[in-house]
Amino acid sequence: MSQTEQNVSTAPNKSKISMALLAVGLVIMLAGLLFGYDQGVISGALDGIKKDFHVSTFLLEVITSWVTLGAMVGALIAGAVADRLGRRWTILLASVLFTIGALIEAFAPNAAILVIGRLVVGFGVGVASVAAPLYAAEMAPTHLRGRFVSLYQLAITVGIFIAYLVDYILSHSSGWRAMLGVSAVPAVLLVLAMLPLPDSPRWYMTANKRAQAAKALAKVAPDANVDAELDQIQAAIDEDSKSSQSWGTVFSKQWRTPLIIGITLAVLQQFTGINAIIYYANQIFAAAGFKSPDSQSLATLWAIGAVNVIATFVAVAWVDRFGRKPLLLIGSSGMFISLVVVGAMFLKLNSHKVDAGGVTTGEGLITLVGLVVFIACFAFSLGPIVWTVINEIFPAEVRGKAVAAATAANWLAAWAVSQFFLTLVDWIGQTGVFWLFAGFCVVTFIFVRQYMPETKGRSLEEIQAMWSSPAKVKEAVAERG
Ligand code: BGC
Repeated sequence: MSQTEQNVSTAPNKSKISMALLAVGLVIMLAGLLFGYDQGVISGALDGIKKDFHVSTFLLEVITSWVTLGAMVGALIAGAVADRLGRRWTILLASVLFTIGALIEAFAPNAAILVIGRLVVGFGVGVASVAAPLYAAEMAPTHLRGRFVSLYQLAITVGIFIAYLVDYILSHSSGWRAMLGVSAVPAVLLVLAMLPLPDSPRWYMTANKRAQAAKALAKVAPDANVDAELDQIQAAIDEDSKSSQSWGTVFSKQWRTPLIIGITLAVLQQFTGINAIIYYANQIFAAAGFKSPDSQSLATLWAIGAVNVIATFVAVAWVDRFGRKPLLLIGSSGMFISLVVVGAMFLKLNSHKVDAGGVTTGEGLITLVGLVVFIACFAFSLGPIVWTVINEIFPAEVRGKAVAAATAANWLAAWAVSQFFLTLVDWIGQTGVFWLFAGFCVVTFIFVRQYMPETKGRSLEEIQAMWSSPAKVKEAVAERG
């Protein structure tokens, strides 16, 4: 991290944000937008696809969920690619893949080609989901790092909202090709935004390109003491270079603690149920008594889509001031309470019939409020902070691959939840499933409290140094923000 130490250990210049840094912000926003749009769009496209291609339910599930599988593979590969080609080329590659995938989807003559398009898009999303936050974390100064990476999450939520909106607008026509094809637009914009930007100084230094690192640093931080900062980055890299840059190193004992923390957080972010609600919001609202498709879509658009965006602003504003741990602890508590309430409401809802005309029961409305609280709590805690933490806890040497491993674990968990949610509902009912998610909120709370060190205000180099001192880790775990 370029200005990192300057901001931490010498007089920080917090007021100046260079144009290049703003452009980095734009890159991260566009990457998040792509991610979110693809998470949200499919629910509205399925009906049209079904009509045009006469596909079975199983094939529909494949069309829905294989994006996450493609993303998982993309995320795994992205780590190595980001370390070898650099963050910049990796993001460019992802955008090109994404554009190609979106076009294949939009012009697919049959279901098989559509599935191929979904896989290619997923692959692009997966690569971008690793490379873009990594790039942002390495470009941003320490005091803005959490906020920068949270911008990514904000963009994901805006992407989901736009997708819900596009779905709503196009839902009455056979607009699925347009719904899917539209995502090529931000992908092309991403290429244009990325082209004039340099790679991160940290990556140039790892690649032994000090002159380019100096140029990049001067571009994003015109006030930086370039030589001193590059020396610090070099020192951190030297510290690492004693061991080899292989997957073996990523899983070595030395870095086991951050790896376990990163992967556990990534999985818990999904096992607490967010995407079951993002993907199946319409069905949940239907079961809660919202009978007309319009009322379901509107509830989804505003109660889920808009609340998600608004609450993420809170995280963007507070993550560097408040600290990661307090937000995670408060957020997981709120998610727990709302899931318990939603589960209890379904217990009541299922015991009597609701009117066909709309929401007629208090339970339906309480469910709506419960889901709003759940989304809001997720959006200021697990949503953005898990990505922030994943992108800051690993040492430079293994960061690319380790971030990729944690991101792939996140995609795999997302796939499992979205693939099995409806089956689980069949087995143990809505109440059982929501309470199961609530159980994972308890696990999250305990894990964060007992094992996660606070990373707010620490430079990437300080975090890296912390792992070799159990006393320092303990001290950071005890920190309450
Ligand atoms: C998660 C996504 C989720 C989104 C919802 C992200 O942090 O990784 O899986 O769909 O938040 O806003």
